[in-house]
Amino acid sequence: MAHDTLNAASPWVQRWSHLIEPGATVLDVACGIGRHLSWFAQRGHPVTGIDRDIALASARFPNAELVCADIENGAWPLTQPGDPGALRQFGLVVVTNYLWRPLWPTILGSVAPGGLLIYETFAAGNETVGRPSRPDFLLQSGELLRVCADLQIVAYENGTLTDPARFVQRIAAIRKVSVKAPQDVIASYPL
Ligand SMILES: C[S@@+](CC[C@H](N)C(=O)[O-])C[C@H]1O[C@@H](n2cnc3c(N)ncnc32)[C@H](O)[C@@H]1O
Repeated sequence: MAHDTLNAASPWVQRWSHLIEPGATVLDVACGIGRHLSWFAQRGHPVTGIDRDIALASARFPNAELVCADIENGAWPLTQPGDPGALRQFGLVVVTNYLWRPLWPTILGSVAPGGLLIYETFAAGNETVGRPSRPDFLLQSGELLRVCADLQIVAYENGTLTDPARFVQRIAAIRKVSVKAPQDVIASYPL
């Protein structure tokens, strides 16, 4: 039976969900009607969704934090209270079926140290089978690997799926916890 790509959580998201700390916060970028808000809320995670149209998600998930914003043309609204220059960070940032390349620094910066990024969207080649077909909305070969080069990559795929036919690229990657530089550690423990 075909996977319900509109309502059911993506199998890729399901597959890597165990990597998130219990109770960690989740941000779904371009959350749509909230299929991943639902998936993670059912697993006990506080969920935040951002989209320019949150009407359906709001009706379905009155307890979720839903932020209505045009994230391609306006300022990113998820910042630290009292410090608009500092991004709010989450234990998981999930993005599916959405691509807006100028947001990459914001998306990566919204993953807390030790947190997870799960990203899955259409890739080059999809123009041969349907939409999206504009290069702006299609990942280039290896693009997720390049963007996530500073993260610890857990899994990556680039290929085709069926029902419906589509070209997809997807990644699960952990933001490394920064460690003290050796000289700082040495300075803390003088001989
Ligand atoms: C194909 S849907 C994917 C929804 C969801 N991520 C999923 O996989 O089910 C793309 C989403 O991106 C949102 N979107 C597109 N442009 C946007 C913008 N400029 N600002 C905020 N959200 C936007 C749309 O409203 C829509 O919900």
